[in-house]
Amino acid sequence: MKRIPEAEELMDEQGQALAYAEADFSASNALFIELFEALHSGEFDGMALDLGCGPADIPIRLAHRYPHAQIDALDGAQAMLNLARAAINNSGMGQRIHLHCQYLPATRLEQQYDALLSNSLLHHLNNPQDLWETICGCARPGASVLVMDLLRPHSPRQADKLVVEYASDAPEVLRRDFKASLHAAYTLEEVREQLAAASLPGLEVTQVSDRHLAIHGRLGGMP
Ligand SMILES: C[S@@+](CC[C@H](N)C(=O)[O-])C[C@H]1O[C@@H](n2cnc3c(N)ncnc32)[C@H](O)[C@@H]1O
Repeated sequence: MKRIPEAEELMDEQGQALAYAEADFSASNALFIELFEALHSGEFDGMALDLGCGPADIPIRLAHRYPHAQIDALDGAQAMLNLARAAINNSGMGQRIHLHCQYLPATRLEQQYDALLSNSLLHHLNNPQDLWETICGCARPGASVLVMDLLRPHSPRQADKLVVEYASDAPEVLRRDFKASLHAAYTLEEVREQLAAASLPGLEVTQVSDRHLAIHGRLGGMP
């Protein structure tokens, strides 16, 4: 089906941000951590950057899983970052997770990173190169990349089925957002074209669940 872009890139409306923060994304966030583990056999003790971090559940999970990692987490929506700050304080991970309010493409990051992460941001972007450009601009040679997102279904009917299957108990605002996100998501082929345009041919694009794709691999510079 044809892509329908999200009405707004940022989730900066307080009610929308709160509904998102209170939703249960434990299954997909656990899958994200599993994919990260698969990319890093053994310990990860470097600097990671999470782009479009939202309420910071993934940075917090990562900080628990890798006690020597440092994590910067970036989002353009202050409403989301307020919720992220509260969750990080509750988790006791405030020393290792630092928040940045920036809009992509992010140009004010002073650090180079060993791992570039993003979950469920790509489909928000009307210009997906904003993400790939940011990743290229702040990655150390050999850095790992893991970007996970929704995969656009083949038809509106299939999108409706996924909403029923995964969000039938969710509040109306979340069901509406989920449906809009499925319509705004990119296909495997579109993401491959984005990577070719960004000169990132070394990254792999695979379907990792009935509704998710992942882009993963390492950037050039290391054997
Ligand atoms: C669907 S949420 C995903 C949050 C989190 N990564 C997760 O997995 O739960 C997408 C987030 O990306 C942020 N975002 C969207 N477009 C952005 C942009 N151009 N620059 C920075 N953040 C953006 C939104 O504000 C929102 O918090």
